[in-house]
Amino acid sequence: MKKKISFDAWIYDPFLFIPLRRVRKIVLECLSDYRRAKILDLCCGTGFQLKLLARNGFSDLHCLDLSEDMLSIARKKGYPITTYHVDAAATGFEDRSFDVVILSFALHEKDAFTARKVLEEAHRVLKMKGRLLIVDFMFDDETRLPGRLGITAVERIAGGEHYRNFKNYIAMGGLKNLLNPKDFTELRRCRVLTGGGIIGLYEKV
Ligand SMILES: C[S@@+](CC[C@H](N)C(=O)[O-])C[C@H]1O[C@@H](n2cnc3c(N)ncnc32)[C@H](O)[C@@H]1O
Repeated sequence: MKKKISFDAWIYDPFLFIPLRRVRKIVLECLSDYRRAKILDLCCGTGFQLKLLARNGFSDLHCLDLSEDMLSIARKKGYPITTYHVDAAATGFEDRSFDVVILSFALHEKDAFTARKVLEEAHRVLKMKGRLLIVDFMFDDETRLPGRLGITAVERIAGGEHYRNFKNYIAMGGLKNLLNPKDFTELRRCRVLTGGGIIGLYEKV
């Protein structure tokens, strides 16, 4: 019998397709020099970002998520993407096995302890001088009111622990508080979502 996909997973792409279209394209552009690289998307959700990479000539694509429903969407339509149903904080991959790791909207919804564990895991599985691409929220002087209100409204809809973690993440300064400069050097960054989001590309130290 065909398994029913949860409403959250089913609505994810239709709901976020337009707001995140530009973000997805900028990530593609940031990674354009890594078409031959072995890429891992941690907490990939529906795999939207990797499907865009696949359509643009990337071929060694791997992604993981804790939600089997999200992964079942990531697997649809026969993209050349290998999926894994495992925890991003303990993936089981060998040390230094990927050229690029993506963490897109994955940190803000976790408590700080788990978010740090996921970053440590990203560092562990990246090759030396590998690239970490992070997309997440950031509220500061560059954030305009529509971005702040829109993002907060969406996170409030997500509710519960997700919303509590988001509020803590923002209050603690987001990525600034999580990324260890001894582990990663920033190569480039840009702001998105009317200044409420950040896309950062980092090199593993
Ligand atoms: C907000 S979604 C982001 C999805 C996708 N990266 C994107 O850019 O649209 C966060 C995803 O992280 C997954 N997730 C949460 N905790 C996880 C963990 N410890 N390990 C793997 N996936 C996790 C959730 O199931 C969800 O699909």
